[in-house]
Amino acid sequence: MELPNLKNAKRRTDAEVKVLTNEYIMNAHLESLGKGKKYFVKTYGCQMNEHDGENIKAILEDMSFTETDNMEDADIILLNTCAIRENAHNKVFGYLGRIKHLKESRPDIIAGICGCMAQEEVVVKEIMSKHKYLDMVFGTHNIHELPEILDKVIETKSQQISVYSKEGDIIENIPVKRESLYKAWVNIMYGCDKFCTYCIVPYTRGKQRSRRHEDILAEVKCLKEQGYKEVTLLGQNVNAYGKDLNDNYNMENLLEDVAKVGIDRVRFVTSHPWDFTDSMIDVIAKYDNIMPYIHLPLQSGSSRILKLMGRRYTKESYLELAHKIKDKIPNCSLTTDIIVGFPGETEEDFNETMDVVNELKYDSAFTFIFSPRVGTPAENMTDDVDLKTKEERLHKLNELVNKYAHDANLKYQDKIVPVLLEGVSEKNSEYLMGYTDTMKLVNVKAPKDLIGEIVNVKITSVKTWSMDGEIAK
Ligand code: SAH
Ligand code: SF4
Ligand code: F3S
Repeated sequence: MELPNLKNAKRRTDAEVKVLTNEYIMNAHLESLGKGKKYFVKTYGCQMNEHDGENIKAILEDMSFTETDNMEDADIILLNTCAIRENAHNKVFGYLGRIKHLKESRPDIIAGICGCMAQEEVVVKEIMSKHKYLDMVFGTHNIHELPEILDKVIETKSQQISVYSKEGDIIENIPVKRESLYKAWVNIMYGCDKFCTYCIVPYTRGKQRSRRHEDILAEVKCLKEQGYKEVTLLGQNVNAYGKDLNDNYNMENLLEDVAKVGIDRVRFVTSHPWDFTDSMIDVIAKYDNIMPYIHLPLQSGSSRILKLMGRRYTKESYLELAHKIKDKIPNCSLTTDIIVGFPGETEEDFNETMDVVNELKYDSAFTFIFSPRVGTPAENMTDDVDLKTKEERLHKLNELVNKYAHDANLKYQDKIVPVLLEGVSEKNSEYLMGYTDTMKLVNVKAPKDLIGEIVNVKITSVKTWSMDGEIAK
């Protein structure tokens, strides 16, 4: 039994980060544990969590379980959770009701939670007192221990909680079952040391740890050989890549080397404005296979609020950076994240956020109402903005964001653009879906044998969040 501890999760020391290449082991007696049995994994949250989900699935398949997308059929159920906002929590606790119900009729099912919520002391305490039917809880630092934890659940028939609140190491040999045959996530760093005052991620994911560039490049080369067309380099703060390694190798070096591997499309998320250098912009502009798409979270347009958020940039420096990006990277699509209703946000502060949106005319934006997270500094800031005002601000902001998203798409009308066709469109089986290099969703009338190809598409009509097109003649 290893319980998460908020105090330890906040700690940062100079302790060396170990790169462990043999940490994931599969004992022979566990290899056939899941023969004839099925697993169901449901993932919430960001791309990093999605990628963790791919690791979890591969580990379960190493134990001979097979996947089902119907929870009712599963012998093992795992919720890979997100802790970023209250509603992410609520979704998971809501889902637990279904699991509890299912376990009443089939007590043999093994169910558990993992991911960022599992890293929270308050959540685990609640699970131990109110959700005793859950068989296991493990965290983001020990996904590789899943076989042992599962073994213990079966052996002891008691709830297993194994969550480490540590700064973290890098485990290099975890298997992966990729969701796509064409697009792949590649972690370049784990954790976050920015400690923005509203954010729980530094506590759930540990210290910033960059992977060795040799390991990243080897993974990208291997993906290219397997026929992948696109890689997305992942981290909470990719621009700070390498700062913890002291080997004079940073994000611009990595981007350039990844581009040189020759994979068709290179993307990266998320960029913190603080660490975005001019030379990084130059590298992005120089290589055709680094996609002209930058997600640059703003959070707020008010320098006063940005200071309270601990973001370490101002409205002016953000605008300067964004304009530099737009000037140097032609047709670059720019997207963002914005929080409204941060404690103490006045109408004036909010209007400054609207000003930035009006000036930059983002291609799209994820917008959120501030949600206090246990253990973060913002949790204890005086929040004098009432919910109704926050909702009104969110609504106003969304209207503006939608207008600019639609305007940005209108520019594509009748243009011919490259699209990586990923699969059959959800809305119409006659259509395939894919994304432009600028990350616009396009539904294309095309034969299924083009799935996995990057094709030139003529845009025939545009909506706010997607476009339709046909194969260009
Ligand atoms: N590492 C990224 C953000 C990761 S979290 C960055 O630094 O930009 C994704 C988004 O969730 C954030 O950009 C922020 O807009 C939002 N978010 C994070 N914590 C939040 C909170 N407590 N309340 C509301 N939104 C939050
Ligand atoms: Fe959270 Fe800030 Fe780190 Fe992004 S940079 S994950 S918002 S603490
Ligand atoms: Fe959520 Fe954890 Fe990602 S809190 S946003 S899943 S890092």
